[in-house]
Amino acid sequence: MKTENILVIGGTGKTGRRVAEDLRNRGIEPRIGSRNASPGFDWDDKDSWIDALNGIEKIYVSYYPDLAVPGAKEAIESLTYLAKELGVKKMVLLSGKGETEAEACEKIVMDSGMDYNIVRASWFNQNWSESFFLEPILSGEVALPLSDVLIPFVDANDIAEVAATVLLDDTYNGEIIEVTGPELITFKDIVNIISETSKRDLNFYDITLEQYVEGMKQMEIPVDVVWLIEYLFSHVLTNPNNQLVVNDIERVLGRKAKTFLEYAQETATSGIWSPIRVK
Ligand SMILES: NC(=O)c1ccc[n+]([C@@H]2O[C@H](COP(=O)([O-])OP(=O)(O)OC[C@H]3O[C@@H](n4cnc5c(N)ncnc54)[C@H](OP(=O)(O)O)[C@@H]3O)[C@@H](O)[C@H]2O)c1
Repeated sequence: MKTENILVIGGTGKTGRRVAEDLRNRGIEPRIGSRNASPGFDWDDKDSWIDALNGIEKIYVSYYPDLAVPGAKEAIESLTYLAKELGVKKMVLLSGKGETEAEACEKIVMDSGMDYNIVRASWFNQNWSESFFLEPILSGEVALPLSDVLIPFVDANDIAEVAATVLLDDTYNGEIIEVTGPELITFKDIVNIISETSKRDLNFYDITLEQYVEGMKQMEIPVDVVWLIEYLFSHVLTNPNNQLVVNDIERVLGRKAKTFLEYAQETATSGIWSPIRVK
């Protein structure tokens, strides 16, 4: 397998894992940026960045937990500076649509003098199977605010294929690529689709954002996570610029973006939405 000197930061996460897999399918073994990789990469330990970046030409960056959190801009600034110093030629940054803080991070990469792409994503389908919406689905009780807001949920496999493509194809250099799903869909629609595909009865409750936040606090979810989720609901979800379908996935991949139904059919087959039965 050819080594292209590509570092995938967040290479064990929702998008990074798939970017790495996509590169391997194209015959390229990337270096994985993870606290458990060797060399390790830890956002909280800048010393670890040097070994992880050593000899690397291109990087995929998914920041954890979110580019909107305090400290993200400084981390992206330091990483971008160090990457350039160490001879990295190109950076592909995963960003979020309609996040002012994320746009500040995008600008750092765009002004860096390196080749770049910004892959600006709407909310991921995989939030329902690999992240914070999985637990309510497993419990059968889904209580969410903003139940009628239209969201172009996008599939992490599509994001990863776009990211791997632009990492390797320099004709896209300098572009902001907006990755959304092919349709606008509400939380209510989603819960119905998951209920049908997983053949489970799911109850949906439309609650206020205040009730949702209060519920998270009562469940003793860490304050920074509660802050982030409240921010995403109050600033990102309600932003009209985010309630749009963009066809950049089709433009780059030459095929349609995956629908939520297609994702749900595959995910239901995997069994992840089947609650564990205790005998
Ligand atoms: N979810 C959405 O709907 C959405 C929408 C738009 C944009 N985004 C953006 O997507 C990005 C997250 O990407 P993702 O969902 O692909 O990743 P993810 O699944 O949230 O993140 C997990 C990855 O982060 C790594 N990680 C966690 N803590 C770390 C640390 N201290 N140092 C180094 N690595 C660490 C994990 O590696 P190890 O545990 O192996 O170390 C793993 O590879 C965020 O910046 C967010 O703004 C998300």
